[in-house]
Amino acid sequence: MILIKLGGSVITDKSMEYSFKEGVVKRLIQEIKEASTKTKQRVILVHGGGSFGHPGAKKYGLNTPRPHDTAKGTAEVQYQMRRLNQLIMNIMLENNLWGVSIPGGLVSTFNDGKLESIKTELFEALLGIGTTPVTFGDVAIDRKRDVTICSGDDLMMGLASLADRAIFVTDVDGIIKDGNIVKIFTKDMLPLTTEDHKGSERKIDVTGGMNGKVKNMLKMSSMCQTIVVNGKIEGRLKKVLLGETIICTEVRR
Ligand code: IPE
Repeated sequence: MILIKLGGSVITDKSMEYSFKEGVVKRLIQEIKEASTKTKQRVILVHGGGSFGHPGAKKYGLNTPRPHDTAKGTAEVQYQMRRLNQLIMNIMLENNLWGVSIPGGLVSTFNDGKLESIKTELFEALLGIGTTPVTFGDVAIDRKRDVTICSGDDLMMGLASLADRAIFVTDVDGIIKDGNIVKIFTKDMLPLTTEDHKGSERKIDVTGGMNGKVKNMLKMSSMCQTIVVNGKIEGRLKKVLLGETIICTEVRR
């Protein structure tokens, strides 16, 4: 199984609230459809929040130890995330990719902001009947904090044990270190500086920034091959799914 995360910066315009990049998502879904038809590989899709998830999460401090106006904030953010998700599900249906939507917060448990468990058996069952499970960043119940943000990256980590490969579709060519795209990124290359990643994920991001994301990927890479690819450039995702050599970064523990 291939686990693919469509990052919020690729599927939305992070500088403008609730702006969906419909054309980009259509192309990416078509690339996934074409490649998976050819390779017969099963796919689980994960997507982030971008400008649908982060503004509300920030406004109500939902990713901090002390969220405020919790009920209102939870209602608003989960609503916006489902709205974004529905836009994607519709594009999948139009492309004969049989997606089934699974809000991340309803299949995971959290303690003090950390993912504790995820219902992997539900994803396996949905793969088993030939569907493409789609899960996404969400508000989740947290044992200690009442609620927290379940990010797309948390979901990637939680599902990595089921995957042969994990692909992070972002708005950059890969992980940049000292001005260059790194083909294979290893732990000793941490930390990344602001200079290294000034082009990406810089706007509103409540869930960890670039170093947090890369640390997450390093952990995942002990479970499955882990790759970062640029989704803004036509054909890259399809090529990486087909196993062709392209500009990207493989993260290796
Ligand atoms: C964020 O998920 C979800 C919410 C804010 C509700 P991610 O942190 O995975 O989203 P992106 O990919 O960075 O936008």
